[in-house]
Amino acid sequence: MQYDVLIIGAGVAGLYAALNIPTDKKVLLINKTRPWECNTYYAQGGVTTARNDADIPIHIKDTLDAGAGMCNEEAVRVLSETSQSVVRDLMARGFKFDTGENGRLLYTKEAAHSADRILHAGGDATGRHLHHFLLLNNPHPMLANATVIDFLIEAGQICGVEVVYKGERKVILAHQVILASGGVGSLYRFHTNAYSISGDIQGICVEKGIALDNMEMMQFHPTVYLGNQSVQKQLLSEALRGEGAQVEDEDGYRFLFDYDPRGELAPRDIVSRALFDYRRKTKKQIYLSFREFDPAYFHKRFPNISANLRDMGFDVPKDRVPVSPAFHYAIGGIKTDLEGHVAGVKGLYAIGEAASTGVHGANRLASNSLLEGLVFAKRATAALLSEPGSNCSTPFAPGDEPLFVEGDKEKKEQLRRIMWKFVSIVRTTEGLQEALATLDAMLASPIGRMLRLRLLTAHEIVRAALAREESVGVHYREN
Ligand code: SIN
Repeated sequence: MQYDVLIIGAGVAGLYAALNIPTDKKVLLINKTRPWECNTYYAQGGVTTARNDADIPIHIKDTLDAGAGMCNEEAVRVLSETSQSVVRDLMARGFKFDTGENGRLLYTKEAAHSADRILHAGGDATGRHLHHFLLLNNPHPMLANATVIDFLIEAGQICGVEVVYKGERKVILAHQVILASGGVGSLYRFHTNAYSISGDIQGICVEKGIALDNMEMMQFHPTVYLGNQSVQKQLLSEALRGEGAQVEDEDGYRFLFDYDPRGELAPRDIVSRALFDYRRKTKKQIYLSFREFDPAYFHKRFPNISANLRDMGFDVPKDRVPVSPAFHYAIGGIKTDLEGHVAGVKGLYAIGEAASTGVHGANRLASNSLLEGLVFAKRATAALLSEPGSNCSTPFAPGDEPLFVEGDKEKKEQLRRIMWKFVSIVRTTEGLQEALATLDAMLASPIGRMLRLRLLTAHEIVRAALAREESVGVHYREN
């Protein structure tokens, strides 16, 4: 099968890219599992947008400040300056953000934003609403339950991908390929991501010598209810803290102010680290309390969080909920320029969480990620449509490395435990060295292709974390 364009991944970035490619192109979206298994579907907070032109420099400053001096400033400028137009485009196509009784858009505030500038939909289900809307409006065919396990490359140009579909390996040829496959959540024991997000595509990049960037920059969300060992997990959106939810210990003490004068509204890296440190020092349980909320407002504004917590036995907003940080977002990823080009492979683009433009620096500002997906999807498709794709002649055949071997399942769980223990919120030289040695040993042992790809990505995260000896943003080295 020969396509003009393949889009790998069907979250906000992949689907918005699809919407921007005309139907006279032969396009195929490839999705690893069911169409709704993606991080966009689970995104709660919203889409950040500059409120107006005067807010652009302030949004830029907030993003740069949160990014701890490591942002690509040009990427941030592009993000903010394009924000109003992508939001207008969505609305012109029929997407409905939440509005007040007067019909005006409602904007909320999240940590480290100096203005209320986050649009939301369905109260606390922005990602799900946006994803549903983009899926319904997708003009191109989609192959679901197909896992990409290799790239086909000839003389520095992309020729397509190899997938596993219904247990069989197949070659799908294309002149251009957009990688929009998300981050690495399932490499960690505790995470907020869709279970299928496991960094496979980043692993293929490592194998092919395609540069990954900022891989030590892995973001942890501070307030996640982990329930029954992450099976019954619930992300407690930053918007809750933005609107008054308080972090406290079991005695009701609001210890965050001991770490940062902004308390609950400090950037995410600071809050996550404070929770980690306070728990380690005091062994006390930490809670998110909603007692400042009017119950009727709470249920209306956060209908899904409220219903889910009630299903889990909490009488919210009266009850407080135990919280811990969990892995949330891969800041690092496939190195691209601001049009999504992946250096060294003609016709290959990466966007959204899979990509690293440097827009988030060392710490992503809350709700900049759906915006990132929209903005860079738009730019990458504009570039792709104006550029020639590949022209390959190799007769590619599927590879023969086994997909799974005995023992993979146990090693996968070991990998997730190691990443959580040694490569999460607080890192040490000894811990990172131990993690690297264990990953090296696993990579040298008999393993299947699926595990190899995860291990290669994890290895790159650990290697980058060891190489950066100073602490910055989400990357905190205790020694
Ligand atoms: C949240 O709702 O707290 C998540 C938003 C984000 O990750 O930007």
